[in-house]
Amino acid sequence: MQGGREGSWKYARSTKTVSTLTGWLNHMTSNLKYLAPNSRPQMSFQPIQGKILQQGKRGISRVLVSAKIKRKRIVTWGIRVDKMSSSLVTFTDKDTYQNIFDPERYLHTYYNPKSGIFVVDGYLDFALKKLHEYFTTRGVKGKTLIDIGQGPTMYQNLSACEAFDEIIGADYTDRNREYYERSLRNEPGTFDWSNLIQKVCDLEGKGTSVEEKKQKLKNTVKKTLKCDVLKSNPLEPLVLPKVDCVISLGCLGYACSDLDTYRNVLKNLSSLLKIGGNIIIAEVLNCNSYLSGGKRFFSLVLTEEFMRSAITEMGFEIVDLEVSYRKYDKDQFCKYDSSLLVLARKVRDV
Ligand SMILES: C[S@@+](CC[C@H](N)C(=O)[O-])C[C@H]1O[C@@H](n2cnc3c(N)ncnc32)[C@H](O)[C@@H]1O
Repeated sequence: MQGGREGSWKYARSTKTVSTLTGWLNHMTSNLKYLAPNSRPQMSFQPIQGKILQQGKRGISRVLVSAKIKRKRIVTWGIRVDKMSSSLVTFTDKDTYQNIFDPERYLHTYYNPKSGIFVVDGYLDFALKKLHEYFTTRGVKGKTLIDIGQGPTMYQNLSACEAFDEIIGADYTDRNREYYERSLRNEPGTFDWSNLIQKVCDLEGKGTSVEEKKQKLKNTVKKTLKCDVLKSNPLEPLVLPKVDCVISLGCLGYACSDLDTYRNVLKNLSSLLKIGGNIIIAEVLNCNSYLSGGKRFFSLVLTEEFMRSAITEMGFEIVDLEVSYRKYDKDQFCKYDSSLLVLARKVRDV
């Protein structure tokens, strides 16, 4: 995106026609800083509202955006947008996930023990360390845990299976749920998690073998269910008794088209939880898309400030929140600057 000044208007120019404000506003979270004079690179903007004032034949629009800077000042920008940024990816809806998300290619790109992006850039070590901490010293335990947007991955359940009697996996796509179940059964040709399982056994320090951990996980994951986080009851038509813990790693930022939807989805997940129950969320920050299987998928631009305020507004009390900066960020697959793990306790219904 190129930026410049036109009288009191800022303008941004690039290659796609503006069609809606949804998504564009989120994109501006990361791009306003380049348009703002005297802005420091680390300054983070959180768009709070926007409306299209005028839309021309060739997609030229005047857009009014209010943005919060670092929770203090609210500035209002008048922005002329000729075309949307070519790097802006339109929202990937759940049916596109159902049709094109390929579990094997996703796992190979992000979790391959040698070259996986989340392995080399440090996300995976960070997530395993935090999950171990939450399910041991932080005392997160109970009867039932629901893993929302589990995808085809199992790293997120390796510590949890020691602290809960049962884990219920949940994802929108049939292929991801099937792949997860096949991995649990250790079917030939499925992704080999042994390296990671060994790391978790080492963190636990109880001398558990990789085979014992695999068996423990298999015994604890009782079922995998279809879910849609966008529904007020994500497990509809099933109505389950409220549970002790909900986790969602690397899902919500891809399932939501805008920040208001993200807040609503937190409310939807909260409806599955008992008061006093825990929610654990992982997200990559300042990311607008990721590549998997040759396709580019939308990512909602999230910031630490937004996550803190949304989680609190939706009836949770933050117990722990940590941000980890990427060790390696030269890849073109997934451009993000940091990842965030948060543990929060439900204090009220909203
Ligand atoms: C990038 S994958 C993440 C998988 C895994 N949790 C991880 O940490 O790598 C995003 C997941 O979100 C799921 N998803 C997307 N939209 C969803 C929705 N509306 N409801 C539930 N899951 C959704 C996809 O099917 C996919 O498994």
